[in-house]
Amino acid sequence: MKRRDFINWVGLGWLASSLPIAIAACSTQTTASGDWQNVGTTAELDKTGQLLVENSPVGSVLLVGTSKSGNLIAVNPTCSHKGCTVAWEAANKKFACPCHGAEYGVDGTVQKGPATKPLKTYAAKIEGNSVAVKPS
Ligand code: FES
Repeated sequence: MKRRDFINWVGLGWLASSLPIAIAACSTQTTASGDWQNVGTTAELDKTGQLLVENSPVGSVLLVGTSKSGNLIAVNPTCSHKGCTVAWEAANKKFACPCHGAEYGVDGTVQKGPATKPLKTYAAKIEGNSVAVKPS
């Protein structure tokens, strides 16, 4: 084997073995346990009882609850009708779309049209001072 071929061969091997490590290092928001994604802190959530993260690695997330309530609700707030962002109505315990009036229950199911498909939901948990979600 020529010296140049050997160097190319070793270089390619190094690159191939380093790539997974480089990819893993880039995904800093992944938590240690599985595919949970950190989407904010408990301080941010507790400020208003809601946390909207529009560009998380798992998509848009609207979390409702507080770190002490122990009953977190997490949905993708993108309305299934035409894509507006739904808002949480705490008094009525539902998500309402400002565009055409669709309404969704706490589990994302449609309560009122024109939407016909439910909101996507996430499992949510508190881990230390972080709030994490994972597609459910
Ligand atoms: S986009 Fe939400 S009801 Fe039309």
